[in-house]
Amino acid sequence: MNIFAHRGASGTFPENTLVAFREAARLPIYGVELDVQRTKDGVLVINHDEKIDRTSTGKGYIRDMTFEEVRSYDFGSWKGEQFAGEKIPTLDEVLDLFKATHHMINIEFKTDVFEYPGLEDDVIATVKSHDMMERVLFSSFDHEMVERVLAKAPFNEVGALFMKILVNLDDYSKWIGTNALHVSLVAAKRRAVKMAIEAGNKVRVYTINTLKDYELMEELGVEAVFTDYPEKLYRHAYRKRYGN
Ligand code: G3P
Ligand code: CA
Repeated sequence: MNIFAHRGASGTFPENTLVAFREAARLPIYGVELDVQRTKDGVLVINHDEKIDRTSTGKGYIRDMTFEEVRSYDFGSWKGEQFAGEKIPTLDEVLDLFKATHHMINIEFKTDVFEYPGLEDDVIATVKSHDMMERVLFSSFDHEMVERVLAKAPFNEVGALFMKILVNLDDYSKWIGTNALHVSLVAAKRRAVKMAIEAGNKVRVYTINTLKDYELMEELGVEAVFTDYPEKLYRHAYRKRYGN
């Protein structure tokens, strides 16, 4: 079962910042997950929320700010004073960071609140400019976006994200044209996910932070988990396979 560092190593470092991504890049795990946003002047930046209030010293929507403004805030000190001065990273900076590693990069499109026309074109162009398309896996809770990305990046996997418990995931995945299903831990425990795995879909589950849940996901046969504590899960997997 593969391990993705969720928003970087976000359990111990400020989520979606370069220090969290550097920690993920250091670990021999499968991949890293991040959330892409776009500033008013069109710069692709990495942040989970549309607003910066929760994780920075600033306030407001990224889409209403220039890059210069959003970059002026501190995105580290909310997590601990030792991270003070950490800035919001650009997608370019994160791709540069992972260029020399083996990690797969899951770029999540956060377009489920606002639409951001053409965001997928900007992201795909940026990934192509780094010559890293084969290293990228896309995803979104916005399944119209999933369809658009599938059309524009036909050789990439595009995960449909689900928070809710559904009845027939396999039929739905065929309808939108992807077999990559990224589901919440609560949904993963339900019948529809078991059936989707049996039908051959790749199921990846967020957010798995305990060894008990990790074990449950292995039993279910999920393809990958997203975790805020990648080192803890990696060490557990290593010990299981090779002993202490
Ligand atoms: O991509 C998995 C997970 O990150 C989706 O939920 O809210 O953490 O972006 P969220
Ligand atoms: Ca995410």
